[in-house]
This record gives sequence, C-alpha cells and structure tokens, in this order.
Amino acid sequence: MSELDSLKNRALDQLGACSDESTLRNWNSQYFGKNGEMLAALKKVSELPPESRKEYGQQANIVKEQLSASYETALKNCLEQAMLKSLETEKLDISLPGMVPPAGKLHLATQTLRDIQSTFAEMGFQVFRSREIEDDEFNFGLLNMPPHHPARDMWDTFHTTDPGLILRTHTSPGQIHVMRKFHPAPIRVILPGMCYRYEAITTRSEIMFHQVEGLVVGTNVSMTDLIGTITAFTRKMFGDSRQVRIRSSYFPFTEPSIEVDMDCIVCGGKGCPLCKKTGWLEIMGAGMVHPEVMKNGGYDPAKYSGFAFGMGPERIAMLRHAIEDIREFWGNDLRFLSQF
Ligand code: PHE
Repeated sequence: MSELDSLKNRALDQLGACSDESTLRNWNSQYFGKNGEMLAALKKVSELPPESRKEYGQQANIVKEQLSASYETALKNCLEQAMLKSLETEKLDISLPGMVPPAGKLHLATQTLRDIQSTFAEMGFQVFRSREIEDDEFNFGLLNMPPHHPARDMWDTFHTTDPGLILRTHTSPGQIHVMRKFHPAPIRVILPGMCYRYEAITTRSEIMFHQVEGLVVGTNVSMTDLIGTITAFTRKMFGDSRQVRIRSSYFPFTEPSIEVDMDCIVCGGKGCPLCKKTGWLEIMGAGMVHPEVMKNGGYDPAKYSGFAFGMGPERIAMLRHAIEDIREFWGNDLRFLSQF
C-alpha cells in the first residue's frame, strides 16, 4: 500500500513539473505505456496473498484513475495554452491592405498595335496577316519594282541563304496576297506585322519594327476617301483637334503617292526639338494603288481603284508619348517599359 502511495506522489510531482506537450507525453508512457509503472503496479496484485488482493486492487485502481485524470487535465491545459500562444503570435490583421503581386503587361508596341487595330476595326477594316519571310517577287517585283529598279534602294534588305527569299522590308507585299485571295472587291483590310531592314540602328531606325498596312479596293475609291480615312484615324489616335498635312511623295506601288504629317503634339505647330522646328511630324506613307499593282493582284485597273497606306506603330507610340529613342522598344529595360 505504501508503495502505491509513493508511486502516486512521485507521479504527481513529476506531472506537475512537465512544462510542455512532449514532456507530458513522456510522462504518460512512463506510467501508462506498455511497460509503464502503473501497469506494473496493477499486475503486482497476483503476487500478493489472497487476503490482501482485494484491498490492494481497489487502491491501485483508485491511484490509476487519479493519475490518468490528472494527466488528461494537465494535457488539456497545456494544449490550450499552446493554442492561445500561437493565436497571439500568429495573429493577422485582416484590415491591412493586401500585397499586390507583380504583374506583367503588354509591351508598348503591342498596346499601340492593338489601339491602331481597334481604331480601324471601328471603321470597318478587317485584320489580315501575311508572312514575314517573303519572295523577292512579292516584296518588290509585284509591287512594281523589277530587279535592279533603283527604288529598291529605299529598303535595305536582309537576304536568306535561299536565293530570292528575304525578310520582308515592309508589309506592302500583303497587298498582293490580299487582292489575290479576295475576289471580288470591296476589300477593306489592315495588315499588321513585323518588318526587317538591314540598316544601322540609330535613335530613329531599328532593324526590326512593326508596320500596319492598310488597303482599300473598290469601284470609285478616290484620294478623298484616303484623306478622310487618315484624318479620322489621326483624330481617334491623337485627339480631335489634330491637323493633317498631305505632301506629295514617291512609292513605286502607289500613284499618286503621298506622305502624311500631323501637327506636332508637343508644340502644336510652333516648332520644337521633337518636330525639328518644322511644326509637323510625319506619320505615314500612302497613295492610290498603282494600276500595275492592281493588275498583279488580279484586279482590272480600268474598273477598280484603291488606296493603301503604311505606318509604324513604334513611331506612332513615340509621337504619342514623346519618346526620343526607338531603341527603347527592344532594349528590354523594365524601367522604361513599365511606364506604359
Ligand atoms: N511600304 C511603304 C514603306 O515601308 C509605306 C507605304 C505603304 C507607302 C503603302 C504607300 C502605300 O515605306
């Protein structure tokens, strides 16, 4: 009996000294585990003389109940304390503003390209894409520039190792593809895409850049339609008060050919460094589709007429945001790109 008493006292003392969950669980296996002291004490009953067994057995069971009840309470308190502590240290202020994850965005060239596309879409233009690797024939020949034509010098060209296969220097070969594919007129398309030129890279020229070509073919399409379309486009892209100026120019595949200027967005026409003191910014080349080109596209120039234009979205973006160096576009400097 006194052994049971001292077992109980020792066990309770040790339990009181347990400071966390793991010491508590160790205590439990020390007394209630398979080889635990409490079980050993219970088994002792068989070694006793029969007259003492009953009393010892009852007492041992009482001790067992007491110890296991004390253990359950101590464990419960300990877990509760731990929970409160973790609630305290891990507490979360749900009223704090969230953290904005870093997000990518469209490249300025793509944004501008899409603006141009939707502006023309509103005017009823469809989007057509044609290939970036072109035949010499499509890039030049069918556009009224037979081999050795001096105007080919206007487009410094990247050649491939396949004779006659080049990287397109402009989107104008798309005019032929569209006319050959879509019969009969009317045609009203824009052709966006990448172009390549074998040029020195400077603040104003890159070796790769986008162009957006426009082509309209129908009966009675006139220069007035071209000027109206361009003016509407310019005002949509740059604002209602924009002035447009037409200069005569030369392209082998348009006749007559024009270049289109817009009054300078920075100085409004007074003259500043952006417009080189002229008050005007050039935005595109254009003209009436040349009869030879019309024929090459499979249309009879006696019955049909059309206009075409070509512009560079990077240049449009530069004018819109007063960007001075075209090399920023492929420079991959996020400090520049993330501004737009
Ligand atoms: N393709 C010409 C260029 O790259 C632009 C242009 C397109 C001019 C259509 C007239 C008509 O410079």
